[in-house]
Amino acid sequence: MSLAKDFALTHPPDNSQPPAASHWSEELEDSAATERLGAKLAPCLRPGTRIYLRGELGSGKTTVVRGLLRGVGVQGGVRSPSYSLVEPYVVSRLHLYHFDFYRFNDPRELRDAGLAEHFHGDGVCLVEWPERAGEQLPPPDLEIVLGYRGTARTAEIAAITETGAQCLARLREA
Ligand SMILES: Nc1ncnc2c1ncn2[C@@H]1O[C@H](COP(=O)(O)OP(=O)(O)OP(=O)(O)O)[C@@H](O)[C@H]1O
Ligand SMILES: [Mg+2]
Repeated sequence: MSLAKDFALTHPPDNSQPPAASHWSEELEDSAATERLGAKLAPCLRPGTRIYLRGELGSGKTTVVRGLLRGVGVQGGVRSPSYSLVEPYVVSRLHLYHFDFYRFNDPRELRDAGLAEHFHGDGVCLVEWPERAGEQLPPPDLEIVLGYRGTARTAEIAAITETGAQCLARLREA
């Protein structure tokens, strides 16, 4: 089946939704499922990959990141960087930065805190509350939006770049 045909079948003509090939949704019945989603994304991380996680308080952003980091081989605890703004990790020469901008009041804090440079290097950037950094951040490869469904969660994932699209292709196969 050709991809173009697939697009034609699933992509609404008014462009109200992204093409199916760049979008993925998943029901996450419990924390373990949220962590598994992160673990499934781990193999697609490359130097410079950016993943932004949106969703209200407690929707599971850190849990996805925990799964991702454990999936690439981070041993030990994965803490929420709410106070430190960023927690760095290094796994077999891959640098990963877990950001949480919840406490940002002013997007300029990104530059003032000396964090902006991380977004233009070889590190993997995993970002909670990217909206608090305003327009300062470059676009992500993948955007994950978490939401509540009863006591469970949902994930809506959008590929923004070719790298992101490759991640989604892997998710489909996982
Ligand atoms: N699919 C799920 N079903 C039920 N509970 C979940 C699910 N996924 C995660 N949780 C739980 O939700 C709580 C909040 O998760 P987490 O800290 O990852 O949220 P967060 O989005 O990072 O929050 P914050 O906005 O404060 O950073 C945790 O107790 C976690 O175990
Ligand atoms: Mg969090």
